[in-house]
Amino acid sequence: MRTNIVTGGAGFIGSHLCESLLARGERVICVDSLLTGSEAHVRALRAHAGFSFMRQDIAEPLRIEGPVERIYNLACPASPPRYQADPFHTVRTNTVGVIALLELARAHRARLLQASTSEVYGDPLEHPQRETYRGNVNPIGPRACYDEGKRVAETLCFDGLRAHGTQVRVARIFNTYGPQMAPDDGRVVSNFIVQALAGEDLTVYGDGSQTRSFCYVSDMVRGLIALMESDATGPMNLGNPDERTVLEIAQRVLALTGSRSRIVHVALPQDDPVRRKPDIALAKATLGWEPQVTLEEGLKETVAYFRKEIGK
Ligand SMILES: NC(=O)c1ccc[n+]([C@@H]2O[C@H](COP(=O)([O-])OP(=O)(O)OC[C@H]3O[C@@H](n4cnc5c(N)ncnc54)[C@H](O)[C@@H]3O)[C@@H](O)[C@H]2O)c1
Repeated sequence: MRTNIVTGGAGFIGSHLCESLLARGERVICVDSLLTGSEAHVRALRAHAGFSFMRQDIAEPLRIEGPVERIYNLACPASPPRYQADPFHTVRTNTVGVIALLELARAHRARLLQASTSEVYGDPLEHPQRETYRGNVNPIGPRACYDEGKRVAETLCFDGLRAHGTQVRVARIFNTYGPQMAPDDGRVVSNFIVQALAGEDLTVYGDGSQTRSFCYVSDMVRGLIALMESDATGPMNLGNPDERTVLEIAQRVLALTGSRSRIVHVALPQDDPVRRKPDIALAKATLGWEPQVTLEEGLKETVAYFRKEIGK
């Protein structure tokens, strides 16, 4: 039975990843500081013999007894208000934390998958974004702690490969959504659904013509595991190329929830990217991976989840 460490395993994507790895018959050690994650996300997994939980910050020394074959590093707050709340913590997580995990991977001869992000492309001048594009990031803006942090995390992974032969995998994750997103984390899909269910105005930044491409979480988790188990190091884009305007997402959410909320427009946040769409040719060719869940199916599942959560 293979042992995986999933850092950030009590978060949105991490909790789904833990569940999938357990369903594959593997062991999971979930390491999470519970900064933005929640114990409730992994409560059901605790009944599983192959699951254990450690409350710990990845930037603090982490000692794990016994063999470890795979480390998935998902630890890092992902929503802008959360990662901007303590930019020093965000940078520390992506630098000191990643170095600590590279050392752990080296000591255990384990493979390390780093959850990177489409934000390494910044406000892209190339569209759709391919892995060869080097990005257009503002290094001193309010988003830089995350964008530049993730860029350094990628650098560190490839330094680990060059210096110590550590087996690394780098996934550039594009916007992902689904059940277990935090209702208050300020991301487009969760914001709209929570506002629609509460009968509040849906706040669209700017005129809503900016685009996003949303990947359902089960597709993302399948991609992460496929990349981990492949021979490719990446960086590799994982996301859904189905590009929609933010205004269209708001309208879909209104239709699906049957809400009578209004759409209102507020000022665009600084450095908000105008267009975002992954080129996933590399993942298709290397992993045979592409998303299967349509936006309509995924939104339905997500609305059902929030209805239940909010009704609790
Ligand atoms: N959700 C997306 O659309 C998206 C897009 C691109 C990249 N990503 C990346 O995927 C990963 C998971 O994102 P998510 O959406 O599940 O976010 P999330 O905030 O729900 O989960 C992150 C988890 O990491 C934990 N964490 C944060 N800092 C930590 C630290 N220093 N030590 C230990 N645990 C820590 C949090 O408590 C939380 O459980 C993140 O690394 C994020 O940057 C996500």
